[in-house]
Amino acid sequence: MSQTFDTIFAGGTIVNHDGTGLGDVGVKDGRIAAIGDLSQASAGERVDVSGLHVLPGVLDTQVHLREPGAEHKENLEAGGRAAVLGGVTAVFEMPNTKPPTSDAPALAEKVRRASNRMQCDFAFYAGATTENADILGDLERETGCCGVKIFMGSSTGNLLVPDDDHVRAVLRNVSRRVAVHSEDEYRLRERRELAETGNVLTHPVWRDEETAIRCTNRLLRLAREEGKRIHVLHVTTADEMDILAANKDIATVEATPQHLTLAAPDCYEEMGTRAQMNPPIRDARHRAGLWRGLAAGIVDIIGSDHAPHTLEEKAQAYPKSPSGMPGVQTLVPIMLNHVNEGRLSLARFVDLTSHGPNRVFGLSAKGRLAVGYDADLTIVDMKKSRKIEDSWIASVSAWTPFDGMTVTGWPVGTIVRGRRAMWEDEIPGAAEGQPIRFVDTLPRGA
Ligand code: DOR
Repeated sequence: MSQTFDTIFAGGTIVNHDGTGLGDVGVKDGRIAAIGDLSQASAGERVDVSGLHVLPGVLDTQVHLREPGAEHKENLEAGGRAAVLGGVTAVFEMPNTKPPTSDAPALAEKVRRASNRMQCDFAFYAGATTENADILGDLERETGCCGVKIFMGSSTGNLLVPDDDHVRAVLRNVSRRVAVHSEDEYRLRERRELAETGNVLTHPVWRDEETAIRCTNRLLRLAREEGKRIHVLHVTTADEMDILAANKDIATVEATPQHLTLAAPDCYEEMGTRAQMNPPIRDARHRAGLWRGLAAGIVDIIGSDHAPHTLEEKAQAYPKSPSGMPGVQTLVPIMLNHVNEGRLSLARFVDLTSHGPNRVFGLSAKGRLAVGYDADLTIVDMKKSRKIEDSWIASVSAWTPFDGMTVTGWPVGTIVRGRRAMWEDEIPGAAEGQPIRFVDTLPRGA
């Protein structure tokens, strides 16, 4: 009996757990129903993807979408469009909004606003404060929550848990992996005057290596004391890679495309405050250390830390200029360009952007191109060269640190649960984004 599918993506080069090879992907009811030679099967629609690579849907597990509270920088709808235009099928959004996502009503409100308004699927981090440790065990289990985030050093917004006692209290009260912005708040305060007015080159001097290293050592000690798992966000130093390599039993690691691509001092000289983010872009020695960590398997995930601010805000004299840069739309093209330039394999890219999130966060039926999983696909043309330009950026902030860079490797299609969310730069249908489910927190009867 011949099989029938809603859609067959036919003739692409599939990159998944099984390696790389030609094949067809059959989709039924939003799930992957078959992988292989489906030339004899029937389908409502057969999409020819020959000459293209078919990857499991790319997840960006660190984005700031600013809604509610700072919609002049970004909102959930525009951020979702930016994601799918860039080949991203799902995002995890950060809690430093206004109000912060630090209680159940704030989390439920974000899920309500995002549902059927974002083109991609989504989850939200719960923000830790010095006051809410006792509710985090429940909050991290709410629908649409990907876990708890701690800011140990202050960045955009007012979420901050600077001291050991409060970090310990957070870790004690949760059971899921905790994501952490690791910069030591006390050292940041001591060194604040090293940030020279009007001189963004002093950003990585103020927020130096030791600020990050000291905090990561503290965090690892606390996590070990409490027997908890941590995910260290946007690691920036070669030294932390070595430290984290010795702690892989409890720690997972994120690197960002911008820390892997840009380097000080050039990025500050060329781009000024556009290159300003926390933790900072550092020199080429540290960038090489991040690549070594990536090659060695210490890095588990690539996340963009999409952190939009308007160019008007960025034009203020440093350090009044806010830290952060858009990135969700450029993660895939920037990293595919690195693949084409030989810095990582396409299989490792898939490991970092799909299998990594699946393993680190316990995604339910997402993050693998396998039968039974959600039909989330990132379809890319590895040969296509294109210039990244501000005018392509769908974020409300409407700019990218990679403006003017020509890359090779480009997302052609973004398939979310079987539906074309993006095809050849167009967004053909209505937004149908839904909360991601997690194996650790499935509701009864799910
Ligand atoms: O540069 C940054 N910007 N780093 C962060 O940790 C926060 C982010 C933001 O929200 O703007």
